[in-house]
Amino acid sequence: MTTSQVPEASTCAPTPPVGQLPRPKEMTQMLDVSSLVDADGGLIERSIYNDERIYKQEMARIFARSWLFLAHRSQFKKPGDFFTTYMGEDPIIVTMDKKKNIRAYLNSCRHRGVRVCRADAGSTKMFTCTYHGWAYNLDGELQTIPNQQAYPDDWNPKDWGLVEVPNVQEYKGLIFGNWDADAMSLSDSLGDDMKYYLDAFIDRDPEGTEVLGGVMKWTLDGNWKLAAEQFATDWYHVNMSHASALMVLSPTGKGPKPEIASTPGRQFTSEHGHGAGFPTHPKSRFDAQTVHEYYDYDFLRERLGDDRVEGPMTTGHATIFPSFSYLPVNGSIRIWHPKGPNKMEVWAWVLVDKSMPEDVKNAQRLYNLRTFGPSGIFEADDGENWSEIQAISEGFITNNTSLNFQMGIGNEHEDGTYPGTTSELYSDAAGRGFYRQWTKLMNTPAWHETKTRPAADKEEN
Ligand code: FES
Ligand SMILES: [Fe+2]
Repeated sequence: MTTSQVPEASTCAPTPPVGQLPRPKEMTQMLDVSSLVDADGGLIERSIYNDERIYKQEMARIFARSWLFLAHRSQFKKPGDFFTTYMGEDPIIVTMDKKKNIRAYLNSCRHRGVRVCRADAGSTKMFTCTYHGWAYNLDGELQTIPNQQAYPDDWNPKDWGLVEVPNVQEYKGLIFGNWDADAMSLSDSLGDDMKYYLDAFIDRDPEGTEVLGGVMKWTLDGNWKLAAEQFATDWYHVNMSHASALMVLSPTGKGPKPEIASTPGRQFTSEHGHGAGFPTHPKSRFDAQTVHEYYDYDFLRERLGDDRVEGPMTTGHATIFPSFSYLPVNGSIRIWHPKGPNKMEVWAWVLVDKSMPEDVKNAQRLYNLRTFGPSGIFEADDGENWSEIQAISEGFITNNTSLNFQMGIGNEHEDGTYPGTTSELYSDAAGRGFYRQWTKLMNTPAWHETKTRPAADKEEN
């Protein structure tokens, strides 16, 4: 495969209706994306980054069926605490109900569709729509509506509660939601191998983790996959893209020594599309001095094992498919919210160990801001690259010239030390794994293509 156009629609089955009314077949046709991604051969067609039809299909077949990060447990202390976010482009309220369960609802009034909660976060007893005043309780039930006597006698407010995300699960403080009620569990979706790498970040402290302050949000002119894929697979760009930042951080001001610049390390690729990479050279770490001095490394070696302390606990990168990424070294957790094929909104939190003293937490927060905050010395470099790729993507010839993901092809294996399939640190293995999973989901009908709307199912049962 060298070049290709976006394939014609309707090679897969059309999508049946999710709501009460059937949608015309023409609105639900799906593309077969097989010719756009050759994961084994390491070739990608650029139209997956800017084609409107591909993007709409991603909403239906990636974001409406994958585990998506919603919020961190520490954001909810008492019933009524809420946080608003997105699953794909669907607006979502995440809240704690009276029984202290975390629930998630579509943030859209069942009357005419206005968002029933416009605040970023807060605490409430009811979500009251500002258009006509329909009010929903913490269980998502429609509790009061003005002028209800004007509706037919058999009209039941119970039929018009907020649409609930049927599947909300948590892994060590990270709360994820999935629109597929029968999806593989979050735990199984991560798999023992991804959990091994993730725990090197979120399971250092027996007390667990918490997020500091609010969420940093900024928009970039780039497709969401450019960021997700980079965090899964790309240590390769570090020396070049971040050369100036590395100079600033190096003790000599001249940049890292050659043995650090070409550090050994491993890259993990999951069968579910997740990816993580980390250097293993003992000096290849860029953590904040205060945080480094705080840690009891003997304790951590006992808790996590030497291999994790010397590898994935340090200066690594990772993506949990499709759109949640993290950086262990500075406590950054982030979502790449899709905002159309050509735009993403980055939402980033600072995650710290709960037991850290306040001054250490603050040191981590400041280090996070300086390096990977919206104007951080590393973050700005990455966003510039993604926007550059997107800026030229409308060119016809450009859009028909394949991209290369061939580094390290054939090097993936079980290395006997780090679990799962791994490759060299400098490799596109996890990128190929990311797009292998993307292609599989894009070409497989989702739950809503064979069932009716989840809330309607629930209400009837
Ligand atoms: S749109 Fe919400 S009450 Fe009318
Ligand atoms: Fe980077």
